Amino acid sequence: MYRLLFTQVLARFDAEAVHHLTVRAFRVLALLPLLKGLIHRSMAPRDPALRIKAFGVHFPGPLGLAAGFDKDAGCVPALAALGFGFVEVGTITAHAQPGNARPRLFRLVRDRAIVNRMGFNNAGAHAAAARLRRPRGLPVVVGVNIGKTKVVPESEAVADYVTCAKELAPLADYLVVNVSSPNTPGLRDLQTAGKLRPLLTEVKQVAAATTRRTPLLVKIAPDLADDDIDAIADLAVELELDGIIATNTTIERPPGVHVPPGAETGGLSGRPLKDRSLRVLRRLRARVGDRITLVSVGGVEDVDDVWERLLAGASLVQGYTGWIYGGPFWAARIHRRLAMRLRRHGAKSVQDVIGRTAA
Ligand SMILES: Cc1cc2nc3c(=O)[nH]c(=O)nc-3n(C[C@H](O)[C@H](O)[C@H](O)COP(=O)(O)O)c2cc1C
Repeated sequence: MYRLLFTQVLARFDAEAVHHLTVRAFRVLALLPLLKGLIHRSMAPRDPALRIKAFGVHFPGPLGLAAGFDKDAGCVPALAALGFGFVEVGTITAHAQPGNARPRLFRLVRDRAIVNRMGFNNAGAHAAAARLRRPRGLPVVVGVNIGKTKVVPESEAVADYVTCAKELAPLADYLVVNVSSPNTPGLRDLQTAGKLRPLLTEVKQVAAATTRRTPLLVKIAPDLADDDIDAIADLAVELELDGIIATNTTIERPPGVHVPPGAETGGLSGRPLKDRSLRVLRRLRARVGDRITLVSVGGVEDVDDVWERLLAGASLVQGYTGWIYGGPFWAARIHRRLAMRLRRHGAKSVQDVIGRTAA
């Protein structure tokens, strides 16, 4: 049904226009307590077997919405009602910025993929903080993903992230330093251990100073060389970060992917990213074991993918593109099937299966 609606109606309209319309609809939903409550009651994960505790935070289910959909933290309660175990908002930058020129969002329907080069369009940390302070009317775990303001030179990047973290860390259940978007010039260069160390050290000080001691994670690209992945893993353990989110979108265009005109540059997400994202997860797990939490994202489409990521060592899993193609019941459906599968395998909870196939 949703597939028909998607291919026959939604896919005929400009991708970004549909996105903004959807966000607006969710904002309205977030303001309607009765309807929101009703949807939440039928779709949010409730099965105790799905509960998972990671870096001190209790998640009702392991599948969350990845960063990039709710960039301004405007519709968190609606997204929670739709069945996500947590919602990561952002990327939010210290200063408001318009993002890159349009068109900057492309659907690759045949490949169940998306290319975006949005460039952190957002209203800035101050505006997001005001939204995050609003009462939500239902329980939801909210991660806040922060990035560098485009006009800020690399030499001032640390101060820029710190400004953003100071505003948002007190309002987040966890904070993510995003150094892996391909759409802000020079951002991914911050992934070298030499540049990452001062950045993460200073942001961690800010996160650790909040009353709740906000957990801090770093989000990495799928295009890193193996040695760089290992170096970041080692650094994360050394700095006692709470976790790593892997991965962001790829700048690669794997053979066989049908790239529409204009989508040659930007980050590719969805099905073509699946194998690479899983490989990065396996490498991280082999390096860090269970010393820090791993969050796997990239090409997750169904319960089989979530299952595979958990077994490979992820405690939490995120999706974005799979949800766009899978429809509004996507997260609720996966959580329901995951609970059934846990039972079938004799597992009492998600925790029991994490890392079962890891080396
Ligand atoms: C349209 C779009 C915008 C995105 N924006 C962000 C962003 O602002 N910050 C971020 O860390 N990741 C962003 N991402 C990346 C996703 O969070 C995720 O890491 C990536 O899409 C891989 O997951 P997927 O295959 O399930 O989509 C974006 C992805 C898409 C499709």
